[in-house]
Amino acid sequence: MPKKTASPKTLGATGGAPRINIGISDKDRAAIAQGLSRLLADTYTLYLTTHNFHWNVTGPMFNTLHAMFMEQYTELWNAVDPIAERIRALGHHAPGSYAAFGKLASLADAPEDPPSALEMVRILVEGHEGVARTAREMFPAAEKASDEPTADLLTQRLTVHEQTAWMLRSLLEE
Ligand SMILES: [Fe+2]
Repeated sequence: MPKKTASPKTLGATGGAPRINIGISDKDRAAIAQGLSRLLADTYTLYLTTHNFHWNVTGPMFNTLHAMFMEQYTELWNAVDPIAERIRALGHHAPGSYAAFGKLASLADAPEDPPSALEMVRILVEGHEGVARTAREMFPAAEKASDEPTADLLTQRLTVHEQTAWMLRSLLEE
């Protein structure tokens, strides 16, 4: 039986690896990877802000917030990896520099001077809601392309960000 050879059409321009062919068009893969890059930048920015607040929080709520922020930045730190690796699985490069994140993020950097403890909580509520909006905005692109792994990842991230926003918001309510 003759060996099956790959058709030249499936080979990449550089020879070695075959062209990615997972049933999602190049245009859709690029659009989803761009959305995931924004989500990665927002998640990384919120991670850094939360870690900053863990270091710099002061006041009577120190113990509670110091520990709570640690739990939250650890979760965010663990979240950036699957987002970046989904971008790679879609055939694109994952951004990973402060310059790239600065261009892509919808969230502002942490303030230079540490705010009060309650102001920190307020900033984090807005941060988690901002990341949730970024994840939700790109949902239609993933659904349109039947990109279930991305839709699943977005669902998981939305659940975490909306729940964390609620918990932080509760600290500010009477
Ligand atoms: Fe620590």
